[in-house]
Amino acid sequence: METIRINGGRKLGGEIDIQGSKNAALPILAACVLVDGVSVIHNCPDLTDVSAAAEILCHLGCTVTRQGHTLTVDSRNISCYNIPTRLMSRMRSSIVFLGSILSRTGKAELCAPGGCEIGLRPIDLHLSALRSMGVAIDESQGTLYCYINDSIRSNVITLSFPSVGATENIMLAAVFAKGTTTILNAAREPEIGDLAAFLNRCGCKVKVSGGGTILIEGVKKAHSVEHTVIPDRIVTLTYMAATAAAGGDVLLKKTQPQHFLTVNHIFEKAGCNVNCTNNSVRITRNGRLRCVRDIRTMPYPGFPTDAQAPVMAMLCLAKGTSVMVENIFESRFKHVCELAKMGAKIKIEDKVALIDGVEALYGANVNAIDLRAGGSLAVAGVAAQGTTVIGSVHHIDRGYENIVECLRAIGADAERSDMDERFPG
Ligand code: EPZ
Repeated sequence: METIRINGGRKLGGEIDIQGSKNAALPILAACVLVDGVSVIHNCPDLTDVSAAAEILCHLGCTVTRQGHTLTVDSRNISCYNIPTRLMSRMRSSIVFLGSILSRTGKAELCAPGGCEIGLRPIDLHLSALRSMGVAIDESQGTLYCYINDSIRSNVITLSFPSVGATENIMLAAVFAKGTTTILNAAREPEIGDLAAFLNRCGCKVKVSGGGTILIEGVKKAHSVEHTVIPDRIVTLTYMAATAAAGGDVLLKKTQPQHFLTVNHIFEKAGCNVNCTNNSVRITRNGRLRCVRDIRTMPYPGFPTDAQAPVMAMLCLAKGTSVMVENIFESRFKHVCELAKMGAKIKIEDKVALIDGVEALYGANVNAIDLRAGGSLAVAGVAAQGTTVIGSVHHIDRGYENIVECLRAIGADAERSDMDERFPG
């Protein structure tokens, strides 16, 4: 199995250009299905999840070419409306193609994505919203058979929870509906704003208000478009956590600090210096980290659940006991047992993690249980004394582009190895 080996314990220094956002690129690629033309998408990260989305687009009849970080999608000839299980199972967030396939073809067939390592991941909010827009949805043996009798109806939809995916699916289903669709209590993540910007650039009419209300006025069609994806705030926060954990002075460029201002505050409480410009963040940590007692994951603009694992890894070395509450997903502490192998002292009580800081972490053989758990092991690995070998790195490659090269750019001793007898299979 492919692994990443990190010889940790040295201060970090250097700079990284932050990749485009995975969670902005994926719904934007799904939105390409709406476009009767060509979509040119810049700053599109080279990730396995993005490749999975590109495969779905090709299956639907698009042609997709990549030149560096620019993806060109020709979606003039959409020839089918189903996503085979083998493609759906590669990436559960493919459910966001449902709204765009329905808008373009009037029907859709795909398997319900099911749960994953961090939780059950239900899609009830997606389905109830689409049904309220006139979409007939039959669920049979795990497959969703969706069709529209006449046309998608605009509606006023209040989400009981500001679900990112449900917000995206409603937006994509509403763009050609007759009338104006209103989403209340919509997700407010920056990735939603980026999807809206893409849709407006291809001729749709989407208005995002700061207070979680989104208005989508139906149009006839979507035309060719060129768009640049926003930077990845979670990748930025992961490398900030690595610097905080190992110590040092690192500059992260081509990012957008206004997308993670609430988290900067946590790094400062932990004893780091954080200096932001509009497109970069410089983080330094010299003395020992201090514990932080009140971190609760919340919908944006609160502390992002995707940063919980990487920031927890850094707090394992803080003086005192830190407290993190995971409010978004019901089983997003799978990284704790791996961090414990490295000497971390963490107690879990339901959705609360108590992190008793230790003087040092030690290298160990660990496994990336999921994407952000993998990020947390890289954070712990650069700070640990000795060698950490991380298995199941395919989880990490879903969301972190060239993580070994990036860690080396800031002075970490990291390498990727193809096979490692300690990680058979
Ligand atoms: C998106 O997932 C992100 N993925 C996740 O990032 C992120 O953690 C999550 O939003 C929250 O910010 C992508 O954008 C591809 P949700 P999504 O719908 O859309 C419940 C990563 O590491 N819920 O906002 O699936 C759900 O169970 C990934 O990059 C329902 O109950 O998240 C969860 O508890 C992981 N019913 C909560 O809402 C529904 O119909 C948040 O889910 C939908 C969601």
